[in-house]
Amino acid sequence: MIKFEHVGMRYGVGPEVLSDINFILEPGSFHFLTGPSGAGKTSLMNLMFLGRKPTRGLISMFDQNINDLERAKLARIRRRIGVVFQEFRLLPHLSAFDNVALPLRILGRPEREIRNNVNELLEWVGLGDYMKSLPLTLSGGQQQRVAIARAVIGRPKLLLADEPTGNLDDEIGLRLMNLFDQLNRMGTTIVIATHSQHLMDKFEHPRMVLGDGTLKINAPKNWIQKKIKGVF
Ligand SMILES: Nc1ncnc2c1ncn2[C@@H]1O[C@H](COP(=O)(O)OP(=O)(O)O)[C@@H](O)[C@H]1O
Ligand SMILES: [Mg+2]
Repeated sequence: MIKFEHVGMRYGVGPEVLSDINFILEPGSFHFLTGPSGAGKTSLMNLMFLGRKPTRGLISMFDQNINDLERAKLARIRRRIGVVFQEFRLLPHLSAFDNVALPLRILGRPEREIRNNVNELLEWVGLGDYMKSLPLTLSGGQQQRVAIARAVIGRPKLLLADEPTGNLDDEIGLRLMNLFDQLNRMGTTIVIATHSQHLMDKFEHPRMVLGDGTLKINAPKNWIQKKIKGVF
């Protein structure tokens, strides 16, 4: 699904934020991406979303080397990726409903199907009464739920979520983690960037840990045992 080989990235002429990133994510996997603030979680998410190009190294997504793909092809790959940005990036002039409907409209789905799906999902994330609200009239936690709904509505092949439970209280945070789990069971590959130890302790997904510009993948102990049992 995703392969990074010796990937480095810097902003402008600044120092390298990511210096030698190597990993492979299998289709259907579910990882947390963690590391202290400033470690480069958001930067790595941007590379995976194809929002930035690496300064060096190779990235392949969906079995295609993205370094030499033309724009139209990059856009096609991006359409298979759902993203929850740390700062939401909702369109301010569109209602909650229309923000969430947008990916389906881009895919050209029939309006009746869009209405049903968007209504159902917004109800489910507790925003049934806010469908017509503009983002700026919503609280941070509500905006975040709109952003999450928009990211998952098209059942992306890959879901990247940057601190998606940061603004949410425990109950709704849990509900959203269950939503991610359901999506994962239907085959979506998931990466959730978080610095919340509490969240990571609650769910036993392997962790991609960023530090000093490089990345290690750690799996919880019994997770490895379960996997080994499955393999041998
Ligand atoms: N747009 C940008 N321009 C310049 N430097 C940036 C930019 N975004 C992030 N950085 C720097 O890159 C480093 C990693 O940031 P970031 O990826 O946001 O880390 P994290 O998400 O783990 O907190 C930080 O030192 C940050 O200041
Ligand atoms: Mg960040």
